[in-house]
Formats: sequence, C-alpha cells, structure tokens
Amino acid sequence: MGVGWSGVADGWAALWGGFAEPAWRALAAAARVGPGTPALDVGCGTGEFLAFLGGLGVPAAGVDPEPEMVALARSRAPGADVRVGDAEHLPWPDATFALVTAVNALQFAGDADDALAELVRVTVPGGCVGVANWAERAHSDLRAIDAALAAAAGDELPPDGDLRRPGGLEELLRDGGLDVTGAGLVDVPWSAPDDDGLLRGVLLGEDPEEAAAAAPAVLAAARPFRTADGGYLFANRFRYAVARKRP
Ligand SMILES: C[S@@+](CC[C@H](N)C(=O)[O-])C[C@H]1O[C@@H](n2cnc3c(N)ncnc32)[C@H](O)[C@@H]1O
Repeated sequence: MGVGWSGVADGWAALWGGFAEPAWRALAAAARVGPGTPALDVGCGTGEFLAFLGGLGVPAAGVDPEPEMVALARSRAPGADVRVGDAEHLPWPDATFALVTAVNALQFAGDADDALAELVRVTVPGGCVGVANWAERAHSDLRAIDAALAAAAGDELPPDGDLRRPGGLEELLRDGGLDVTGAGLVDVPWSAPDDDGLLRGVLLGEDPEEAAAAAPAVLAAARPFRTADGGYLFANRFRYAVARKRP
C-alpha cells in the first residue's frame, strides 16, 4: 500500500471488503459466538465483519485507526459501536468483550505481542481471542502477483512473517498467556471481474504512475488465473486460531 488506509477506504470496501468471509465464519464457529455475545473486531476496516456479526445477533464493536475506514464501517454496520483507535491502545476498559478478533490486521500493529496484550486486556476472563491472517505464500495464488511486482522493482519477496507461518498464530496466542482451543486453514479466494478490477485490487494505494508502469507485469503474472468470463480467480488460504483467556 502506497498510501494510508483512509486514502483507499472506498477501494478496499469495493474490492476486498468481503473477501475474508470464510475466515469470519471459521472464527465465529470456533469461538461459538451466538446472539448476545459482546464482540470487538480490531482493525475492523470497512466493517463487513461487524455487519456479519450483527446478523448473528452479536452486539458488535469495532476499532480502526483510520477515520475513513471507521466512517464506512459505521455506515455498513449502523448498530455497531465503532471507534477510532489502534490495536495497541484500545479505547475500552478491561474485561469488556466475550470475543475479541483481528482479521488480516495484526501485521499492521507496531508490535504484535503488545497488540495481543491489549486484545487480551479487553477480553473477559473465560472469553476468547480469535486471529485470522493470510497463510504462508505457498497457499496463495496471489504470490504470483507479489513476485512479479517484487521482480519489477528489482526486489525479492520477503520471507513469510510469523503471523503467516504454520503455528505462528497459536504461538502468539500462547505467548500471550491464552489457551488455544481451535485453529485451522480456510480457503479465502479472491476474484476480479476483469483487467481493471484486477489492477485496481492488487495495486490499491499505489501511486498512479507506478501503477501504470506495473500493470503489464501484473497482467502477465495473472494470466494463469484467468476465468472463462474474462475475470480472474485466485485461490488463497487464511490461517486462524482461537484461544481462551483463563478465568
Ligand atoms: C487489510 S485491512 C483489513 C480490514 C478488515 N479487518 C478486513 O478483514 O477487511 C487492515 C486494517 O488494519 C487497520 N490497521 C492499521 N494499523 C492498525 C493498528 N495499529 N491497529 C489496528 N488496526 C490497524 C487498517 O486501518 C485497515 O483497516
């Protein structure tokens, strides 16, 4: 991302906002959320998960440091209490929520362990923390695009970080003093309807001149993922883990 999240809020909502739904479902099932379970989603982005939780009858709250993401989340999930704040400084008192989640977000915190400690702080004893993130690149067709962009810039792809590797989420949660109760891999495909959607999606936030220069490499790398209708379909996976705070 070349610019802050607020600058790409509309594009995120249109192109990526709902794509992690299989991970939301996995987290909700593993944490056994039901009507009345107070839940907080940290790094809630444009609020699609909050709307999903609301549909389950969950009193949902969300937090994100980017005001434009928060504005869209408030309109998408009008019943949710959505606040501006970051994972390292959550604007709620201790022991407020029975479930606290972070989907595709903790990697943006300055320090994942500090952020996790904050998630744990606002969780009630006996409640759950659930985290979901991109699995290692071996599980992502989009690595072909990342590799092409890195090669075009004369770089190599960085190694998978701790939040992506097998066991990384469980280790984070255990190191935070929690008892892991569930974990897994879930298919999270991403599709684009045409070349324009593909380029807008994978180059979201790039400077327009740099995006135009990168477009041919992206289109070439995406060719194997072309669908019969002229769109694109990338198979990807997320890892998720859910853990309980000791009573
Ligand atoms: C990739 S988006 C994911 C949004 C949403 N969770 C989803 O799955 O659609 C990452 C989000 O993390 C937010 N973010 C960035 N830094 C953060 C931080 N320190 N604490 C919490 N959220 C952060 C961004 O503003 C953005 O909304």
